[in-house]
Amino acid sequence: MCGIVGVITAEGGVGDVLSKALKRLEYRGYDSVGVATVNENKLYIKKDKGKIDEVNERLNLTDVPGRTGIGHTRWATHGVPSKRNSHPHGDCKNRLAVVHNGIIENYSELKERLTRNGHIFLSDTDTEVIPHLIEEKLNSGLTGFHAVLEAVKELKGSYAIAVLIADHPDKIYVARNESPLVIGVKNKNYVFCASDIPAFLPITNQVIFLYDGEVAELSLEGVVIRNLNGEVVEREVLEVDLTPEMAKKGGFPHFMLKEIFEQPKALKNTLRIDERKLIEVCKILSESNRIVFTSAGTSFYAGLCGKYFLANISRTGSEAVISSEFDEIMKNIIDERTTVVAISQSGETSDTISAAKYAKRFGAKIISISNTVGSSLTRLADATVYTQAGPEIGVAATKTFLVQLGALSLISSKLAEFKGVITRDEYKTLLNDLNTIPEIIQLILDKTEGEVKASTEAYYNSTSILYLGRGISSAVAMEGALKLKEISYIHAEGYAAGESKHGPIALISTGFPVVFVAPMDSTHNKIIGNIMEMKSRGARIISVIEEGDEEIKSISDTVFRVPKTSDNFFKQIVYIVPLQLFAYYIAVRKGLDPDKPRNLAKAVTVA
Ligand code: M6R
Repeated sequence: MCGIVGVITAEGGVGDVLSKALKRLEYRGYDSVGVATVNENKLYIKKDKGKIDEVNERLNLTDVPGRTGIGHTRWATHGVPSKRNSHPHGDCKNRLAVVHNGIIENYSELKERLTRNGHIFLSDTDTEVIPHLIEEKLNSGLTGFHAVLEAVKELKGSYAIAVLIADHPDKIYVARNESPLVIGVKNKNYVFCASDIPAFLPITNQVIFLYDGEVAELSLEGVVIRNLNGEVVEREVLEVDLTPEMAKKGGFPHFMLKEIFEQPKALKNTLRIDERKLIEVCKILSESNRIVFTSAGTSFYAGLCGKYFLANISRTGSEAVISSEFDEIMKNIIDERTTVVAISQSGETSDTISAAKYAKRFGAKIISISNTVGSSLTRLADATVYTQAGPEIGVAATKTFLVQLGALSLISSKLAEFKGVITRDEYKTLLNDLNTIPEIIQLILDKTEGEVKASTEAYYNSTSILYLGRGISSAVAMEGALKLKEISYIHAEGYAAGESKHGPIALISTGFPVVFVAPMDSTHNKIIGNIMEMKSRGARIISVIEEGDEEIKSISDTVFRVPKTSDNFFKQIVYIVPLQLFAYYIAVRKGLDPDKPRNLAKAVTVA
């Protein structure tokens, strides 16, 4: 997730307008920043690694000539944060500049072809294929607009782009597919494009929404939108009624809720992980005789899920060790045939980095799964799988947990094929199952949110809540409990349901709430037994169930329903979503700010 912006201004000061707009988009990413302007048919580019204020101080981004410019604030996906990987990216002859938000899936093939045709690439990004593709179209005689249109037809994946062409100094070309892009207009004085409305909200609230598969030409004379067939599309200008703060949160009251709703997109992007990367990781895993997941907090629960995935899908044994306990547990058993899978959204968690360093001292291989390109953990890993959730601002991890499960599902499926446990066709079936999960989550967000919100009235003043599940759902239950305790300050524990009768059941008295994560899987009958044990002691039962599961519904006080997913191999993944919403709405009902829970930091960088 990056922030892109473009502006044409009749009033001058393009650098100042761009810098301010970028600052308002900084929440979308901030590892590097850059601007490009065009003046008298010449391009000017300034860019570097660092946050906007730092780069501005070094390069004075406001001091750029012209009336037309584009800008970018980056959250790295391909290529570490560095000057050469910062946007804008250009073509071979400095005739055009491009900023991009999204992931170009077929960039390797395009880059190979363009390199064969003599194009020189200066960065490790997927984005750089776009200016070179447009350059080819311009060389073939197409004009600005049609060159952009024909170039984007060749792109696969997600993109929102803004393009500046030196020969067209009064125009910006934009296109989008599965990444956000809005246009802002103010009389004949300003025209903007941006990833998000807050970029230009202080200047105008008149917006035009661009849809997927559309390309537009922006100028002070007007906005012309076309579909990919080149047909003109009429679109009205709308007035939005948002404060800058609301707009930054996409209209949601909190980042946490926004991030919960971003999960279908985040997962979809993560499932685009290059197959070659999966093979690299599987090679390491298949050569090791001990696999250990290590991580902290939410990422630890992802590691627990990883243990189930590896065992159930690829028939591979593994252990999950909390990173702060790693050396004490592993000190006599780690060696060069051990592979440590270190999971961390930030890649900066001190305990997890220490565990990975410790393992490396004994010759172990390190695979990292991280949401942050170039983070400390990834720099010491032998191989890294990047999740693609975009920056997570809420302190409570939500979308980053889900994408970690997505990455682990992919790795486990690939490993199963790699080891010959399943055939290529069976692998493809697993991928199909996985690729339907984002839609299922969307349905939960559309249909289940209301019943979760309504339920909070009955539970928000509880002092303690127990969360139970069996199999992989026990790890989901633990993550659900962590969400509740960290943002609502209600004591909550997640347990393997079978274990509950070995102690936790003593807590139960009339009215004590117990949440059951109860998918229709091999654990279904046994979980009914656990529900009955709790119910007969007076517990109030909240069950997360599959739609149509009348049996569990009839013995529960409250149910959160997820769509029918019986045939989907990865069905348990989606059960976390109602639990995230439950924690969120309880915190809100208690008048707490879920984005900033007390005593917590987003990345715990102290041991
Ligand atoms: O960045 P990491 O994934 O390594 O962070 C690990 C934990 O600190 C983190 O998951 C923490 O538990 C969150 N507050 C959970 O919501």
